[in-house]
Amino acid sequence: MKRSQDLSIAHHAIVQDFKSVCRKLWKCEAWERTEKIVGEGVRRLIRLDGVTKRYANGHHGLVNVSLTVNRGDFVFLVGPSGAGKSTLIRLLYGEDKATAGEVMIDQFRLRSMTLRQLPRLRRQLGIVFQDVKLLPTRTVFQNVAFAMEVVGASRRDIMRRVPQVIELVGLKNRRDNYPDQLSGGEQQRVGIARALVNQPIYVLADEPTGNLDPETAADIMRLFVEINRRGATVVMATHARDLVNQLQRRVIAIEGGRMVRDDVRGAYGYDA
Ligand SMILES: Nc1ncnc2c1ncn2[C@@H]1O[C@H](COP(=O)(O)OP(=O)(O)OP(=O)(O)O)[C@@H](O)[C@H]1O
Ligand SMILES: [Mg+2]
Repeated sequence: MKRSQDLSIAHHAIVQDFKSVCRKLWKCEAWERTEKIVGEGVRRLIRLDGVTKRYANGHHGLVNVSLTVNRGDFVFLVGPSGAGKSTLIRLLYGEDKATAGEVMIDQFRLRSMTLRQLPRLRRQLGIVFQDVKLLPTRTVFQNVAFAMEVVGASRRDIMRRVPQVIELVGLKNRRDNYPDQLSGGEQQRVGIARALVNQPIYVLADEPTGNLDPETAADIMRLFVEINRRGATVVMATHARDLVNQLQRRVIAIEGGRMVRDDVRGAYGYDA
């Protein structure tokens, strides 16, 4: 048992290293080849099996939800207010635990995961919220660098990587600005840079365009598409009807805690 566990951990580490090299090359082609080499079993990134989340007050956030997300997928979570989208996102980064059923991400079973394992999961993951909380006394560069400092990255890696992501999100000329010198869209870009800087294999976003005007929202959405094109899996809860309709990605709809729709190239499907 121990030996097979060791082997499985070693195998996983090799696959992760290889993927990380591919991501560093920033080449989709290489990423796609990796996907083929590692095969179906490793293709699956997220699996929910009969997941129910009941809150302490007895209210159900999710009811018996089962779904699979493969590496490289771009998934929109849609549904009316109170449907359970944020509940699902919280389960996917280990902030909340399912009351019943199993949430599996990569090699992690979230229900039985110990607190010590949580940072290991979070290191593979980038999270973007509607309300970006930047450190007000730090510049754009320092805010992004902070995300690397907390996971113990070397000075050398920080100096190499931070300018790359700042450029990716289009803030090269703002790197020494403080958050209160930035527009809402620019602040959201810093939030995205911060989420990407540790090269996550998946990115969760909960209404990342919720506070933005339509044009800025479209810019931010393009950034997520680019992130996805470069290999990261994206799961995004959103009310951005027009953008969802335009992009024609996978759409999972939740209503009253239940999954009611899962379309490969879906539409938003609600009026508001
Ligand atoms: N901590 C909590 N305790 C009790 N009930 C909660 C809690 N958090 C959420 N809920 C309830 O769970 C249901 C799902 O909430 P959730 O925040 O996941 O909805 P949502 O789809 O993200 O909505 P919105 O589009 O408004 O963000 C709602 O009915 C909500 O009132
Ligand atoms: Mg929500």
